[in-house]
Amino acid sequence: MDPIGRFHQDRRQARQRKDPWAELCVVSTVTAGGEPSARVLVVRELDLDTGAADPSLGVFVNASSPKVDEFSRSSSVAVLIYLPSVMVQYRLRCTLDAIDPTIVREAWQMRPETPKRMDWVYETHPQSSEIASRDALIDAVASKSQAERLFAPDSAVGYLLQPIELERLDLSRGDEPHDRRRYSVREGNWVEAVLVP
Ligand SMILES: Cc1cc2nc3c(=O)[nH]c(=O)nc-3n(C[C@H](O)[C@H](O)[C@H](O)COP(=O)(O)O)c2cc1C
Repeated sequence: MDPIGRFHQDRRQARQRKDPWAELCVVSTVTAGGEPSARVLVVRELDLDTGAADPSLGVFVNASSPKVDEFSRSSSVAVLIYLPSVMVQYRLRCTLDAIDPTIVREAWQMRPETPKRMDWVYETHPQSSEIASRDALIDAVASKSQAERLFAPDSAVGYLLQPIELERLDLSRGDEPHDRRRYSVREGNWVEAVLVP
């Protein structure tokens, strides 16, 4: 099985086991100052009619946030996924491609009320910026009108995660050493290397 198929199989199993990490990842970037920065994001599966056997992976974010600036500071981002219920860690290096805004807008309609309002709050208070107080934040959210909440602002964006390197560490081997394999893309194909765990 190719490593992407295996990845989706592990995620499906984690979902069946109600793994709280099944839908999550940690995306690491490099700041303008050259420092590492990491945060949890939901990993979405998108059916984009690419002809691929597996769905594409994507993240939805707000363009006002520092991470979106950081996405362009290096040629790739590091993505970490640990699925405790199946005892498997994935470390991916991914390039990012903007998701078609039409798809982002459709997905945005499914968001709960407060995240929708937050996307409009970011227009005046960028995500991750300081605000005077929690009360000021609550007021800013409450001030968003029904009209704004009907459609996504342009700052609601999404990125496809395109894995170019993938490492799977399987901790479920009992008394045996862990199974660690790295997959790199060479001339369009995945090439496997077994690593010392
Ligand atoms: C379980 C969980 C899921 C999250 N999902 C997202 C997400 O899908 N998109 C997002 O922008 N932030 C998400 N966040 C918040 C981010 O971790 C982060 O706090 C926020 O995006 C600001 O990051 P930045 O300052 O690096 O831009 C999530 C946090 C948690 C704990």
